[in-house]
Amino acid sequence: MITLYFPKGILIFALFILNVRALDTFIAAVYEHAVILPNRTEKPVSNEEALLLMNKNIDILEEAVRLAAKQGAQIIVTPEDGIYGWVFTRESIYPYLEYVPAPEVNWIPCREPKRFGNTPVQERLSCLAKDNSIYLVANIGDKKPCNASDPQCPPDGRFQYNTNVGRLVARYHKYNLFASEIQFDFPKDSEFVTFDTPFGKFGVFTCFDIFSHNPAVVVVDKFQVDSVLYPTAWYNTLPLLSAVPFHSAWARAMRVNMLAANTHNTSMHMTGSGIYAPEAVKVYHYDMETNSGQLMLAELKSRPRWELTYPAAVDWSAYARSVQPFPSWQSDFRGMIYFDEFTFTELKRDTGNYTVCQKDLCCHLTYKMSEKRLDEVFALGTFDGLHTVEGQYYLQICTLLKCQTTDLRTCGEPVGSAFTRFEEFSLSGSFGTSYVFPQIVLSGSQLAPESHYEVSKDGCLRSRSGTPLPVLVMALYGRVFEKDPQRLGQGPGKLQ
Ligand SMILES: *[C@@H]1O[C@H](CO)[C@@H](O)[C@H](O)[C@H]1NC(C)=O
Ligand SMILES: *[C@@H]1O[C@H](CO)[C@@H](O)[C@H](O)[C@H]1NC(C)=O
Ligand SMILES: *[C@@H]1O[C@H](CO)[C@@H](O)[C@H](O)[C@H]1NC(C)=O
Ligand SMILES: *[C@@H]1O[C@H](CO)[C@@H](O)[C@H](O)[C@H]1NC(C)=O
Repeated sequence: MITLYFPKGILIFALFILNVRALDTFIAAVYEHAVILPNRTEKPVSNEEALLLMNKNIDILEEAVRLAAKQGAQIIVTPEDGIYGWVFTRESIYPYLEYVPAPEVNWIPCREPKRFGNTPVQERLSCLAKDNSIYLVANIGDKKPCNASDPQCPPDGRFQYNTNVGRLVARYHKYNLFASEIQFDFPKDSEFVTFDTPFGKFGVFTCFDIFSHNPAVVVVDKFQVDSVLYPTAWYNTLPLLSAVPFHSAWARAMRVNMLAANTHNTSMHMTGSGIYAPEAVKVYHYDMETNSGQLMLAELKSRPRWELTYPAAVDWSAYARSVQPFPSWQSDFRGMIYFDEFTFTELKRDTGNYTVCQKDLCCHLTYKMSEKRLDEVFALGTFDGLHTVEGQYYLQICTLLKCQTTDLRTCGEPVGSAFTRFEEFSLSGSFGTSYVFPQIVLSGSQLAPESHYEVSKDGCLRSRSGTPLPVLVMALYGRVFEKDPQRLGQGPGKLQ
């Protein structure tokens, strides 16, 4: 029996790149899209109804693509699930999927719409890329037949991938599926999707893949891409996993350009897109007030590794190894952040030195507040262990954060605003990994301006300007890939 495989993928269309001369810089665009969702249903809708809904979303994306192209953008990234949303089961998503061939077939759907059967979405996306002379990154679902005698073929006989889609220059199937993505399968082996353009080498992955070594770190370290295309449907969970701080920290630590396009849905806490360079955040958007989409553009260096401004690699444990742990006269306490049990210590005074340890990780903090307020409590926390909820991955984290209330039992729970100002700070940890993502989030979920802090080569996140900052949370978020189990995600189907 022939059945189908549904990978989730990202497709990149590009056509008629007239200018083949190498460019030193390029204009990148990302579009945060408020996806029009279909009605929730168990029973699959007709193909016509599915196409009607997808065309409504593509109408909006089309406007963004036109605007971006008019302003000179060479490439635009649209979000994960940006064409049909996420309210599906394995059955109900089926009418929204199209067969996506491998890019090697050299297919221009706009010119040969019927070559691979009925593929109206790919045709429209391809024409959009062609008519606007732009690389278009879009995420659609891909269906692939599979042989039921293959032990890896899902019981309904089809693989469904989450795929990213001109000429079709690249096709990426999401490898690390988030636990709730029951409608999709992940490919047997992770794919490394890269492609060259006159403005640098690009890599692509989606959403939850960002926690992975394979493919996220591999496309940067081994394939040496200049820019990462990152369509996502990311819901913000403070303190540590808010889209803009986390993604920009990743780009900074991996020293790569990143074009991150998030879905926009405030009731799901989905917002936060941006264009990040290794040395600076170029533009970002975070909007919990409105239900509108947003287009962003920024100029990026095509090959940041060749530039004088390219940041040096950081030795994340050098500073911490050089300092003596600060003595402590108070007891530590426990608190949870996103299902992980941290060890915390409270910052009692307006200035101080603290060390807090868990297993092999000791975090050191030196700080000075403008004043110690009685209505706010801050704590220094550390976690060294395997995260096991909605995926398994090994973390080492040092964080300074505001507790939700003055009750210490709320340390680690989300809080949105802070009034205490930090005039000076220096945070470091004895990390056993070189993959540490440094972030500072200010009151109101704003990013700290880069002129106000620095990451030193010896692995210290410290204040620079003397301007007091209303810090909500700062963190050194380390990933220890050697200690990970084989696969991060818990995709459905029979694969482990
Ligand atoms: C959802 O259902 C309502 C009521 O039946 C209908 O008016 C609306 O057009 C449907 N929306 C979509 C996207 O199909
Ligand atoms: C499916 O797999 C079986 C066993 O390997 C093989 O005999 C059969 O030809 C395959 N069918 C197709 C259509 O590939
Ligand atoms: C946001 O997502 C939720 C849950 O999927 C949905 O019920 C709601 O209608 C969405 N909001 C908008 C404005 O589309
Ligand atoms: C913190 O430690 C530094 C030296 O590491 C010292 O100069 C400073 O006085 C200490 N501050 C407090 C408040 O203990």
